[in-house]
Amino acid sequence: MSSKKILITGANGQLGSALNLILGQYPSLYELINTGHQELDITDKDRVEEYIAKTLPHFVINCAAYTAVDKAESEIDIATAINVEGVRNLARAANLHKLPIIHISTDFVFDGKTSIPLVEDSFCNPINVYGSSKYKGEQAAQAENSKHFIIRTSWLYSSVGHNFLKSITKLATERSTLSIVFDQIGTPTFANDLALAVKKIIDSELAAYGVYHFSNEGVASWYDFAKELIDIQGINCEIVPIVSSEYHTPAKRPAYSVLNKSKIKATFQIEIPYWKDSLRACILEMNSVE
Ligand SMILES: NC(=O)c1ccc[n+]([C@@H]2O[C@H](COP(=O)([O-])OP(=O)(O)OC[C@H]3O[C@@H](n4cnc5c(N)ncnc54)[C@H](OP(=O)(O)O)[C@@H]3O)[C@@H](O)[C@H]2O)c1
Repeated sequence: MSSKKILITGANGQLGSALNLILGQYPSLYELINTGHQELDITDKDRVEEYIAKTLPHFVINCAAYTAVDKAESEIDIATAINVEGVRNLARAANLHKLPIIHISTDFVFDGKTSIPLVEDSFCNPINVYGSSKYKGEQAAQAENSKHFIIRTSWLYSSVGHNFLKSITKLATERSTLSIVFDQIGTPTFANDLALAVKKIIDSELAAYGVYHFSNEGVASWYDFAKELIDIQGINCEIVPIVSSEYHTPAKRPAYSVLNKSKIKATFQIEIPYWKDSLRACILEMNSVE
């Protein structure tokens, strides 16, 4: 069996690194073409076209994104260039060669005004600049390339990069108390589990293009997430629950963004771990590389 050539953009980020860890275990199955910002700036339309024409991968996986949710409120142009035009460039260039694109989106396309787990065609109504740019990016991918898999995920964390797990772990070792919001409800997602789901999509060879939701199983508030991660690590810090109005951030966040994952599970035969089990696995991984 010949190997599949996979072009990964944003390869140094959380998901890009997780894909390398997961797919990299099978060098005879996948030939990974890893590109960071330096090698392939997705906002450079000509470079993107030239790069895809030169490499002709079986799949383009777009892990590149502008992910600074609060900063995006004052950097609309940069967020748009990367999360909308960058996605358009990739989707269009892939389409020129009839190649599929796997693009990652977010639970922040929703406004959080429901209390029922969100399905793929639930009403999108982003309430911050980042969410709006990601929603427009989805639309660009859909318009430019019918062979798209758009995976919306939530609260992504991994053992590398910047994320809630890393920042709370650091702060909790420096302080005796931490106040964390308990009125934003969602589900944490371990990047390795999302990478495994992407692998399932690639391996399936199904042309089941469309939008999918993926997170770990279960439901949590940020307070629950923080409490669990310090308990697992045995850190002595009191986590105090507060409401969002007591913690001001430039960007508003949806109050409820739990994703319903029935479609991705049924289509690609995916079993998803419970968020607390995956958090434990990530912390083990984090401690083993330190
Ligand atoms: N993090 C979350 O909580 C979360 C939640 C839901 C959905 N998502 C989505 O999941 C996906 C993966 O997120 P992540 O957490 O892995 O992101 P990440 O760790 O922030 O990595 C994003 C990567 O994109 C690269 N990048 C930025 N601008 C670029 C450009 N113009 N051209 C090429 N590369 C560029 C960055 O490289 P440089 O550092 O070199 O700029 C970085 O390595 C994204 O689509 C994100 O929107 C994330």
